[in-house]
Amino acid sequence: MRVCGFVYSPRREANSELAVKEIMKQLPDDWEKVMVRLNDLDIKPCQACYHCVPRGSHCAISDDLDVIIRNVKHSDRIIIAFPTYIFTAPGPVKMIMDRFLSITSDYPDWPHPYPSCVVVTPYGMAEWEGMVKEDAIAFANKLHLNVLAVQPMLATLPADSVRGDNLETLHRLAKLLEKGKKSDQPSSDFLECPACTSTALKVRPDGTIKCAVCAATGTLRRMGKGFTFEQGEGDSAGYFTERALDNHTQYLSDKKILFRNTKDIIKEIQSAYKEPEYWWKDDGEGHHHE
Ligand SMILES: Cc1cc2nc3c(=O)[nH]c(=O)nc-3n(C[C@H](O)[C@H](O)[C@H](O)COP(=O)(O)O)c2cc1C
Repeated sequence: MRVCGFVYSPRREANSELAVKEIMKQLPDDWEKVMVRLNDLDIKPCQACYHCVPRGSHCAISDDLDVIIRNVKHSDRIIIAFPTYIFTAPGPVKMIMDRFLSITSDYPDWPHPYPSCVVVTPYGMAEWEGMVKEDAIAFANKLHLNVLAVQPMLATLPADSVRGDNLETLHRLAKLLEKGKKSDQPSSDFLECPACTSTALKVRPDGTIKCAVCAATGTLRRMGKGFTFEQGEGDSAGYFTERALDNHTQYLSDKKILFRNTKDIIKEIQSAYKEPEYWWKDDGEGHHHE
């Protein structure tokens, strides 16, 4: 078995890194263990060139994205950890995630079953975790991973993730990872999407729900004194199913053809917006309000 840990944090030997190392330590000694520091990779922003469309085409940018993809494809288990920055994933993590558009249609090339993963997202202040769990769910799913658990973790000072209750949580995650078993307990006291475990749920006035991360649909149902998310039938399973990935891949291919066939019309519309020129230019004088 091979386990790969991906860590992003500008702080060395801090919560994200130590959380991954602690989980690694709990896994059997005969497993091959590798860590990749995402900060050290040269990964550029997506250029929206759609070179990666249709299926079988590859990203036009040549940089270190492949380091992530190769390590995922050669691993049986994955651990991911990054902190919460302004209620979400840090910008560079989102930037990497955008590049996963280029592998949307590649899931048939992935090891089957998909490598199982756990994700830890430290945050510094109680109740200030924001949407970091939801970013982590998207990150792991867009990498075609079998997500066993995504765990926001209150950890402020650099080694808090491996102290007290947090240590027990990490050991629980290590057990899940070793067994390849999905967590059967919620990561918080919020209602979760039954498909992806996101807690970002959009509720319509009629009580129907759409998960903001995976688009699984269902209904908010009263159960005892509380509520449950009762998932709908058929297409309600969301963005991360292979069927949804195929649909998306086909949609992108169709749109690319439409773009080629209607380029002249698009250019004509764009040309009507060339003037006047609004773009700010630095004239060195500065612009202060009086
Ligand atoms: C730029 C920045 C923004 C942050 N934003 C949040 C936040 O929105 N919510 C929160 O709870 N903690 C926030 N934190 C605290 C970190 O999430 C927390 O300290 C975490 O443990 C850092 O992980 P690390 O030790 O792996 O670097 C922020 C920290 C920084 C530097």
